[in-house]
Amino acid sequence: MNYKIALIRGDGIGPEVVNEAVGVLEAVGEKFGHSYEFVDVLLGGCATDAVGKSYPDGTAEKCRACDAVLLGAVGGPKWGSDRPAEQRPETALLAIRRDLGLYANLRPAALRPAMADACPLKKETAEKGIDLMMVRELTGGIYFGKRDRYDTPDRGVECTDLMAYSEQEIERIGRRAFELARLRRKKVSSVDKANVLETSRLWRAVMHRLAAEYPDVQYEDVLVDNCAMQLVRDPGQFDVVVTENMFGDILSDEASMVTGSIGLLPSASIGDSAPGLYEPIHGSAPDIAGQDRANPIATILSAAMMFRYSFQRPEEAAAIENAVDAVLAGGWRTPDIAEPGVTPIGTREMGRRIREHI
Ligand code: IPM
Ligand code: MG
Repeated sequence: MNYKIALIRGDGIGPEVVNEAVGVLEAVGEKFGHSYEFVDVLLGGCATDAVGKSYPDGTAEKCRACDAVLLGAVGGPKWGSDRPAEQRPETALLAIRRDLGLYANLRPAALRPAMADACPLKKETAEKGIDLMMVRELTGGIYFGKRDRYDTPDRGVECTDLMAYSEQEIERIGRRAFELARLRRKKVSSVDKANVLETSRLWRAVMHRLAAEYPDVQYEDVLVDNCAMQLVRDPGQFDVVVTENMFGDILSDEASMVTGSIGLLPSASIGDSAPGLYEPIHGSAPDIAGQDRANPIATILSAAMMFRYSFQRPEEAAAIENAVDAVLAGGWRTPDIAEPGVTPIGTREMGRRIREHI
């Protein structure tokens, strides 16, 4: 196959980790007989510096002309919240999610076998294994609701952020979760705050309707505060966790930490049509940018998710994942995951070693 892939290299360590993922894609192409056309797309702080906006005109169209999008990382203190919205990298991220219709964000949090010692939880908890898939709704809720800021006569400035969800939005993300669970351990935990929020009561009602359609999948409701606690008490109990946008933002950071390194975790954002967008969970880490110290594994594993979810090529995905596991099993570590006493290797060497295993 010939795949057309948009590359959003972004800010900070973004360009370095994307380079290594591209190298791995090339190696997979050689092994499995694929070729690529890479299209560079400017987005984030670097776009603000170049053209004055973090989300340049035509960005969505450029991406839509591709089969998939690979994103490194965007953002940094240089483009902080004192900047107008159109110059902030976060604005661009939300815009591309919305414009490409990427309503389902898949964030797997799995303890890789060679990294079991990195789990910060109790040994007996880590030994049970962690392999969960966070399914976060990505284009609705409080992230995209109406915002307001106004003066009041007696209470100073007042602001509102509206959280809204429709049955249709809940149903489509719910279906994704149940379908994914069927390919895994057949359990869905739906996270809400139905004891307080009206949106959560609707969420729960829709999920219950879906649960009846998927009798082969075990289903449970979990309140978000309890979920936050269970994730550090016994994360092994979870298979697929589905939740609304902001709960998912928060819980997915927590889930990533229990696996030991945020530098290892990929993500996929998908909608009903191509392209899907693939990116590491971690940020742009400006403090180590350009020093050959970043861990490229999360971006490389994002390329594996691209093969699995956009190209329907599980063998290529597995080849990448197995190569990563082999290099980790060989004891090779970037600084972020190096155990005391281990001499770390750089971004480029990590990429090269993974390519060699493909
Ligand atoms: C994430 C990030 C973004 C989000 C920010 C940068 C807007 O935290 O992808 O989780 O909140 O969605
Ligand atoms: Mg986040």
